[in-house]
Amino acid sequence: MKLLVTGGAGFIGSNFILYWLKKYPQDFVVNLDKLTYAGNLENLTSVQDNPNYKFIQGDICSLQVVSEVMQGVDTVVHFAAESHVDRSITDPASFVKTNVLGTQVLLGAALENKVKRFHHISTDEVYGSLNLDDKNIFNERTLYDPRSPYSASKAGSDHLVKAYYHTYNLPITISNCSNNFGPYQFPEKLIALAITNLLEGKKVPVYGDGLYVRDWLYVEDHCRAIDLILEKGKIGETYCVGGLTENLSNISILQKIIKLLGKTDESLEYVKDRPGHDRRYALDWSKIKSELGWEPLRDFDEWLEKTVNWYQENKQWWKNIKSGEYKEYYKKQYAKL
Ligand code: NAD
Ligand code: DAU
Repeated sequence: MKLLVTGGAGFIGSNFILYWLKKYPQDFVVNLDKLTYAGNLENLTSVQDNPNYKFIQGDICSLQVVSEVMQGVDTVVHFAAESHVDRSITDPASFVKTNVLGTQVLLGAALENKVKRFHHISTDEVYGSLNLDDKNIFNERTLYDPRSPYSASKAGSDHLVKAYYHTYNLPITISNCSNNFGPYQFPEKLIALAITNLLEGKKVPVYGDGLYVRDWLYVEDHCRAIDLILEKGKIGETYCVGGLTENLSNISILQKIIKLLGKTDESLEYVKDRPGHDRRYALDWSKIKSELGWEPLRDFDEWLEKTVNWYQENKQWWKNIKSGEYKEYYKKQYAKL
């Protein structure tokens, strides 16, 4: 089988390529990635010389690039996106371009080339924001209510994917997952930022009151879910994928990391809140469990400890990132720290 993975140099995409080539060494994987600030080929050094792996640097918004890359592809797994909410607040246009237009370009080329499956990676953020005491959590039937430029652009891409299914019978599946964490995450997202800041002896910025709640999914569990959806998922369907966490606030996660690293609460610094900050995401993943037999392999605490260890053992990986362009972004985003 020939797979086209878009955004394969990013956090989840690179974990997925490593997972896939290990489990299915006979498959051929093409990685199409523009290498924005978030793309990092160092994640893939262990497969760069694998004859069944090919990297192509290119933009999913370019019809010419995408049409060429799509030749002979059986399955598309579409990760490429602008993915950070804070950046979407300062630069919404690039999110609309890549996430909406780029997805449409891929869909058109996939249709033209008669791919057997187009799997689209989406997010639980498209469902909006829950109150802390809401009993009804997000599931596949929840109406879309995106509230940031990032989630609005992801919602737009999801609608296009569904439109290509209904209008042109493109064989699609979609997964809407919660917050991923694990190895190779760009240190702008909460868990990777917190671990690496603490390892550097820096403070961790806490937005607002810190009592925001997310559902947390370990990246390898996510890769296993995508694998199962590709194998057994029903065409046209959406699957919600979440972790084994219940109502964990940002502060309680940070306190767990602080404890694992032998630090104190003095490492926390409360800063100005994110505009339009969604209070809570919580995801009901019983559909993928009952229909495809998926569930996370371990609970949050076990995966968190493994993640903290990985960042401790791979300091050079994140130090290279933190000393580059990211330094300028950090100065602007966290001016007072
Ligand atoms: P990431 O930001 O780490 O990686 C994104 C990758 O896409 C990068 O390698 C980047 O270079 C590439 N890219 C960006 N624009 C491109 C373009 N125009 N053409 C080609 N490549 C381009 O993102 P991630 O965290 O790995 O997220 C992957 C996908 O999963 C995204 O679609 C995101 O919306 C979705 N998602 C992420 C999370 C999460 O917690 N990280 C949760 C839910 C859904
Ligand atoms: O829910 C899935 C989404 O999770 C994905 O679709 C997005 O791509 C991904 O970025 C993530 O979005 P969040 O906004 O939830 O993740 P982030 O790591 O940016 O923030 C997690 C929580 O931590 C949120 O409540 C904001 C807070 N936060 C974040 C940062 C970066 C802080 O308190 N301080 C920080 O410095």
